Amino acid sequence: MSKSVIVLGLESSCDDTAAAVVRRDPTGQTEILSSIVRTQTSLHADFGGVVPEIAARAHAEILDHCVEEALTQAKTPLSLIDGIAVTSGPGLIGGVVSGVMCAKGLSAALGIPLYGVNHLAGHALTPRLTDDIPYPYLMLLVSGGHCQFLIAHGPDAFERLGGTIDDAPGEAFDKVARLVGLPQPGGPSVESAAQAGRDGTFTLPRPLLDRAGCDMSFSGLKTAVLRTRDRIVAEHGGLPSQLRADLCAEFQAAVVDVLAEKTRRALSVYLQAAPARATLCVAGGVAANTAIRSALENVSAEFDASFVAPPLSLCTDNAAMIAFAAIEQMPHRRADDLTLTARPRWPLDKTSPAMLGSGKKGAKA
Ligand code: KG4
Ligand code: ZN
Repeated sequence: MSKSVIVLGLESSCDDTAAAVVRRDPTGQTEILSSIVRTQTSLHADFGGVVPEIAARAHAEILDHCVEEALTQAKTPLSLIDGIAVTSGPGLIGGVVSGVMCAKGLSAALGIPLYGVNHLAGHALTPRLTDDIPYPYLMLLVSGGHCQFLIAHGPDAFERLGGTIDDAPGEAFDKVARLVGLPQPGGPSVESAAQAGRDGTFTLPRPLLDRAGCDMSFSGLKTAVLRTRDRIVAEHGGLPSQLRADLCAEFQAAVVDVLAEKTRRALSVYLQAAPARATLCVAGGVAANTAIRSALENVSAEFDASFVAPPLSLCTDNAAMIAFAAIEQMPHRRADDLTLTARPRWPLDKTSPAMLGSGKKGAKA
């Protein structure tokens, strides 16, 4: 690469509106010049989940402000931008359309090349942005809308080893929080309640551990929490806070056990094909969970693998990862033209069949 490349990234596939400017210099060093993320959490709070129509309108209203802020903070005028990268799927379609239209407008008006980016590729490539990890590496993407093991072979070459066949773990944390009367987002509130929980008060299932392979299921676990809650309420006339904490602790322990065991299997599969020392990377909002993070770190140590978890601001949805994915992919692909469309579903591994039920709840990522 003989000159610096500067890319403006846009992200609007779920409930965060984001814009960022990322530069790669001729030596290959990459720097995030700005990363603006405006979350819509308060807009959806009363509804117990992301409302697609509200999300899409909110994205459309503030995307241009985010772009302006990202350019100002990066001290980079549009005239210096070499490419506009935008999440063009998968995700909530109205939000993705908002981003794609904004990016197309900028590209057409200014004559800047346009790059549609798979949101999941953004997450999956983040360890290269933060830690300069060489290919190949094993990735566990674990968020509110996704849960899958991927081998990243290259900027646009991903092999899916398995994933959830129904809910994603973050979605399960959010639903469990609702079931036991804790605030959204459920992950942090369930984790915090679990700290006061005692081991062994309740026993919940560890779904799909009896099935070979790396596929997972979290929907039955959530139903088991519902039944246990109903039993407690029937017996006690309510949900005493100690029993609520115990239930949260057992739920979290079940998620930890499933993720840890399936990660063992994914690492075994990965190591069969890649004799060199493995690296396990994790991304997505659920990676913020201390118990999950430390379980994954321990599993990595069992396999003498390195463990990489990007800082939380880059694990969760952001536009720097989208700009970076475009920079990684540029040498291997062409720019898109104005026929670029928003794709609600867009599997990363083109050879792997779509998972039954995955993403039905309206894919977050
Ligand atoms: O990656 P992310 O910010 O957004 C998308 O899913 O697109 O992940 C959000 C999800 C939510 O479901 C949230 O409850 C979960 O990550 N989460 C956690 C924790 N912090 C956030 N889950 C478990 N433990 C946490 N500490
Ligand atoms: Zn995401």
